[in-house]
Amino acid sequence: MKLRVINGPNLNMTGRREPSVYGSETLDDINNQLRDFAQGQGITLDFFQSNSEGALIDAVHDVLLKGFDGCVINAGAYTHYSFALRDAIAATGKPFVEVHLSNIHAREEFRHTSVIAPVCIGQIAGLGKLGYQLAVEALAAYDNKGPLEK
Ligand code: DQA
Repeated sequence: MKLRVINGPNLNMTGRREPSVYGSETLDDINNQLRDFAQGQGITLDFFQSNSEGALIDAVHDVLLKGFDGCVINAGAYTHYSFALRDAIAATGKPFVEVHLSNIHAREEFRHTSVIAPVCIGQIAGLGKLGYQLAVEALAAYDNKGPLEK
């Protein structure tokens, strides 16, 4: 199984940016641990990060065009308002799991809305880096059992 992991704007600053909210580990630290976890499950991960909406949309399209089985996405602040990203996810027809390091529902009002949630199979928020691991597990379970027996 081959999954893509997409991180959006400002997530390249994880570890340096508001550590009380996002933790003190860097995105590379988180990705390396996630890669090791996935390898143990026989899952190959491909990592992508960008601060640009267009580059993220292209990376989402590639989930379909390059034959990935699904995708873990932390779209950062684009989560809250990018209809273009939402449409891109829908266009792939592939399972996406939305992840947030912080609990977006316990923060400012504008973070309570996710415009991508309706086109994802699920959302994990507030569990820090563990959220990425749980998302990989969810996609593996989804792939094994199919959408009707999740
Ligand atoms: C975030 C939450 C977003 O609201 C924020 O804009 C981010 C990070 C998270 O991982 O908690 O950049 O997606």
